[in-house]
Amino acid sequence: MSDRESGSCAEAHVIEVAGRHFTLERAKLQDVPALVSLLADDPLGADRHVDDRQVYEAAFADIDHDPNQFLAVVRDPDGGLVGTMQVSLIPGLSRGAMTRVQIEAVRVAERARGVGLGSAMFAWAHEHGRRRGAGLAQLTTDNTRVEAHRFYARLGYQATHQGLKLPL
Ligand SMILES: CC(C)(COP(=O)(O)OP(=O)(O)OC[C@H]1O[C@@H](n2cnc3c(N)ncnc32)[C@H](O)[C@@H]1OP(=O)(O)O)[C@@H](O)C(=O)NCCC(=O)NCCS
Repeated sequence: MSDRESGSCAEAHVIEVAGRHFTLERAKLQDVPALVSLLADDPLGADRHVDDRQVYEAAFADIDHDPNQFLAVVRDPDGGLVGTMQVSLIPGLSRGAMTRVQIEAVRVAERARGVGLGSAMFAWAHEHGRRRGAGLAQLTTDNTRVEAHRFYARLGYQATHQGLKLPL
């Protein structure tokens, strides 16, 4: 992966996978409909979708105003949106005041899977965290996503903790 970043997060990063050049950058408001479609195009995501654009735009504004959040969009060489993830920096006092990077809402479009794009996105996310002082990356993944578990294990993630959820 080459990196055109010059200190700020404003510029696109180029990710080269299988001889193709993808770009990774901070999502913009106009990306929201395509992002919502990508998140919904999934056996679990489809059930979690709501039919209200304003809800998503309000959530996007919250994310966009928070300097600890990076909602990433990945585009293919034709400009099509083929990937996303939300990378959150979480400062904390535990583990010697270690900052963590939390990676959630990860999707690679079906047509772009299996060629290394997801792995390259995570390499970028880990580096993004390291550059901001994070010492640990963490995520949760649904118990039913067996292929994703294999993907994360290959990246070095270990199931050392149980993720618990409670609807509020
Ligand atoms: C999991 C995911 C992000 C990986 O991205 P990717 O670009 O396909 O990943 P890579 O090409 O770098 O690595 C491929 C590995 O990903 C995993 N994988 C998961 N779903 C896959 C799919 N539908 N097609 C291909 N690989 C998949 C496999 O472990 C695969 O390894 P394998 O070739 O040994 O089977 C992507 O497949 C995806 O979005 N899947 C559906 C949604 C999902 O599970 N998101 C994670 C939520 S926690």
